[in-house]
Amino acid sequence: MPYSIQTGPGFFKKQKNALSIRIWHWLTFIGITASLTTVLLGSTMFKTKNNISTVMDGISEKGGSVTADQARSVAHAYSDKLWNTHKIIGFVLCFLLLSRIIIEIYQQKNERIAVRIKNALNFHTTRQNEILERNHYILVKRGYLVFYFLFLMMALTGLVLAFEDVELLKPIHKTANSLHSFFQYGIYAYILVHIIGVIRADMYKHRGIVSGMIHDGNEWEK
Ligand code: HEM
Ligand code: HEM
Repeated sequence: MPYSIQTGPGFFKKQKNALSIRIWHWLTFIGITASLTTVLLGSTMFKTKNNISTVMDGISEKGGSVTADQARSVAHAYSDKLWNTHKIIGFVLCFLLLSRIIIEIYQQKNERIAVRIKNALNFHTTRQNEILERNHYILVKRGYLVFYFLFLMMALTGLVLAFEDVELLKPIHKTANSLHSFFQYGIYAYILVHIIGVIRADMYKHRGIVSGMIHDGNEWEK
C-alpha cells in the first residue's frame, strides 16, 4: 500500500504532491547541494590560510619569490571567487524560498501544510496504530515548518551578508554573520534526518513515498 495520509474521511489515503511542489523540491535539492558544496570547498581546499604555502612554493619553483602577505592576497582571491559563487547560488535559493511561499498561497487549500496539520490534529481515533501514524505525520509536517524557518533565517542573514556595502545593514553585519554560521547546522541536521527518514519510510511503512516526489502517482489509482 503506497503512502500516505490525507484529510477528511479515509484519513489514511495516499498523499499526492502537486507538480509545482515536486519541481520545487528537486530544484531546491540541487540548489542547496550546490550551496553546501561551496561551503565545503571554502572551508577546506580553498581556505586562504591553507593555500599561502602552495602559492609561495609554486612561485619559488619557477625561480621567483613572494612574501607571505603577497601569497595570502593571491590565495584570498581564489577563496573570494568561491564565496562569490556561494552568494550567487544564495540568490537563487532566496528566489526558490519565495516561490515556495507563493506556491503555498496559491495551491489547493487541503494541500497547504497548515491545513494538513490542522486536519491531522482533528482526526480522532481510538486505534493505537492510527494514533501512532497520525502523530508521526504531524511530527513530519512540523519538521517541514522548522526547515522553512531555518531556510528563511539563512536567506535573510545571507542577504545581509551579500549587501555588505549597504550603509543601513552595516550595524547588523556581525550578528547576521554569527546567525548565518549558527543556523547552517540546523540545515545540515534537517537534511540528514530527512534523507534517512524518507529512505526508511520508503523501505518499510510507506513504500512509494520517494517516487511520489517524482511522479504524480496516478498509477496507484489503478
Ligand atoms: C541554506 C544553505 C546555506 C548554508 C549552509 C550557508 C553557509 C554559509 C557559511 C558556512 C558561510 C561562511 C560563514 C563564515 O564562516 O564567515 C556563508 C557565508 C555567506 N553566505 Fe551562506 N549559506 C547558505 C545560504 C545562503 C543564502 C541563501 C545566501 C543569500 C544570498 C547566502 C549568502 C552568504 C554570503 C554573502 C556569505 C559571505 C561570503 C563571504 O565571506 O564573502 N548564504 N554561508
Ligand atoms: C538538500 C536536500 C533536501 C531538502 C532541503 C529537502 C527538503 C524537503 C522539504 C522542505 C519537503 C517538504 C515539502 C512540502 O512542503 O511538502 C520535502 C519532502 C520530501 N522529500 Fe525532500 N529534501 C531534500 C532531499 C531529498 C532527497 C534526497 C529525497 C529522496 C531520497 C527526498 C524526498 C522527499 C520526499 C519523498 C518528500 C515528501 C515526504 C512526505 O510526503 O512527507 N528529499 N523535502
